[in-house]
Amino acid sequence: MKAIVRAVDDAARQLSIASDTARLDAELLMAEALHIDRDKLILSPPSREVPKRFWSMVKRRSKGEPVAYITGRRAFWNIDLHVGPGVLVPRPDSEVLVASAIEHFEGTEGPKRVLDLGTGPGTLLLAALDIWPKASGLGIDVSRRALAYFAANARRLGFEDRAKFKLGDWAENLIEQFDLILCNPPYVAEGAELGPGVSEYEPDEALFAGETGLDAYRVLAPQLPRLLSPGGLAAVEIGYDQAMPVTQLLERDGLMAKAANDLAGRDRALLLTWV
Ligand SMILES: C[S@@+](CC[C@H](N)C(=O)[O-])C[C@H]1O[C@@H](n2cnc3c(N)ncnc32)[C@H](O)[C@@H]1O
Repeated sequence: MKAIVRAVDDAARQLSIASDTARLDAELLMAEALHIDRDKLILSPPSREVPKRFWSMVKRRSKGEPVAYITGRRAFWNIDLHVGPGVLVPRPDSEVLVASAIEHFEGTEGPKRVLDLGTGPGTLLLAALDIWPKASGLGIDVSRRALAYFAANARRLGFEDRAKFKLGDWAENLIEQFDLILCNPPYVAEGAELGPGVSEYEPDEALFAGETGLDAYRVLAPQLPRLLSPGGLAAVEIGYDQAMPVTQLLERDGLMAKAANDLAGRDRALLLTWV
């Protein structure tokens, strides 16, 4: 058996104590250590020595550090984002916001102006700009570190002319209307248990929103109606058990909410449109 394949097997065994996705983690770390993509690693593993840095990466992962912080990147929808300490690692569940937007704008030219509230490394906005080449947008975040990743990602993906960012507290002082509003705010209740490594490594301001997890929605609720264009869509991520309380907060001034499911079939977003 090739040394590389054996090392991935060994690492997957070691990581199974700390991670539910041990084999995937080991493959991603090896692919990164070899500077090849994971498909190539799986389909034709190279015959060479195991890079030394692979084992230090495995050690970091075994202590709970997210794979994306170790490799410095994470795929989201159709783009690759650079991420690291200080930003939330994009989650596949958030792709429901993008899929819902595609469905909403099907058969049209798509949104012209897109707003991403709590943009982090640019996750939702940059995915949207990749889908609709004529669109431009604004990403707002309260974290300077997150916006540094946003700027670097926008540049690397060639979107710097279409993707602007602003340091701010949600949409405070923003006077513009957008055809598409994407928002994945923090929605975890303070003190709630999260998966291994999440609260130890990922930033509190990206995760927690007060005692009930609803604080960010309370601020966003009065802002959304003035920001959404006629015929537009605001797609807001929620926790799987928050559809009812967040609907009560966000359905106001003529906005109507419909829940959308994640890959596991649980409520994961509210889709707001004008009645
Ligand atoms: C759950 S993360 C989402 C990151 C990214 N949009 C994604 O979907 O992966 C929430 C983001 O909201 C930002 N945030 C928290 N409080 C904020 C506020 N008051 N105003 C603007 N952004 C805020 C955090 O810094 C973080 O980047």
